[in-house]
Amino acid sequence: MQAAGMADCNSSAAVTVKEDRGGGGGGGSSLKRRAGIVATCVVAGSVAALYAAAGPFVAPALRRVCLPFVPATPAQVENVLKALQARSGSLVDIGSGDGRIVIAAAKNGFQAVGFELNPWLVWYSRYRAWREGVRHSTSFYISDLWKVSFSQYTNVVIFGVPQMMDQLENKLQRELQSSAKVVACRFPFPTWVPDSITGEGIDAVWTYDAQTFKSRKQDV
Ligand SMILES: C[S@@+](CC[C@H](N)C(=O)[O-])C[C@H]1O[C@@H](n2cnc3c(N)ncnc32)[C@H](O)[C@@H]1O
Repeated sequence: MQAAGMADCNSSAAVTVKEDRGGGGGGGSSLKRRAGIVATCVVAGSVAALYAAAGPFVAPALRRVCLPFVPATPAQVENVLKALQARSGSLVDIGSGDGRIVIAAAKNGFQAVGFELNPWLVWYSRYRAWREGVRHSTSFYISDLWKVSFSQYTNVVIFGVPQMMDQLENKLQRELQSSAKVVACRFPFPTWVPDSITGEGIDAVWTYDAQTFKSRKQDV
């Protein structure tokens, strides 16, 4: 019995020694496992942060109509203001980007609103409006332009892409009141006849009178 007991004792000692050795190796591998988890978290966190930051800029390219963020040039903004210089009241920039047209319009007396899909650009626009002292005459909304009605605006600005202009033409023709003016930057509407063209080349803007395009629609 005693021999057996000793044998038991010896074997448990042997086990202890084995476990100690194994424990030393386990510590190393658990350290490696922990490092692996930390590395995975860092990579996953970085990917999530990159996605959150860049996603809203890439998303427009994945939509049916790709309308990327391309800011208006200073000359383009000037041409928009010139085209609307005899006007006042409400103004909307459809796809307002970093808010430059809305802010410039507010500085020229308009109550100006921007609708923009990219939340980063909307937050940045609000910050710029605050910094430039026009917080109370501007509003920025995170919205899809196709899901908003523009019926309440009397001055409408769009810097779009050719692929969307026919669809937007139909939408605005349905929604706008006859007193509205529409300004298209860089790309004109396909069937409306402009009142005037201000500037040239990539800075050109076309101005349309809603009374004209709405009455033409009734004639057809
Ligand atoms: C060509 S940029 C014009 C930006 C600004 N209007 C300017 O002139 O500086 C078009 C803007 O429309 C935004 N956009 C794209 N798809 C949109 C959508 N479905 N609804 C609202 N905004 C959209 C883009 O994120 C981009 O900022």
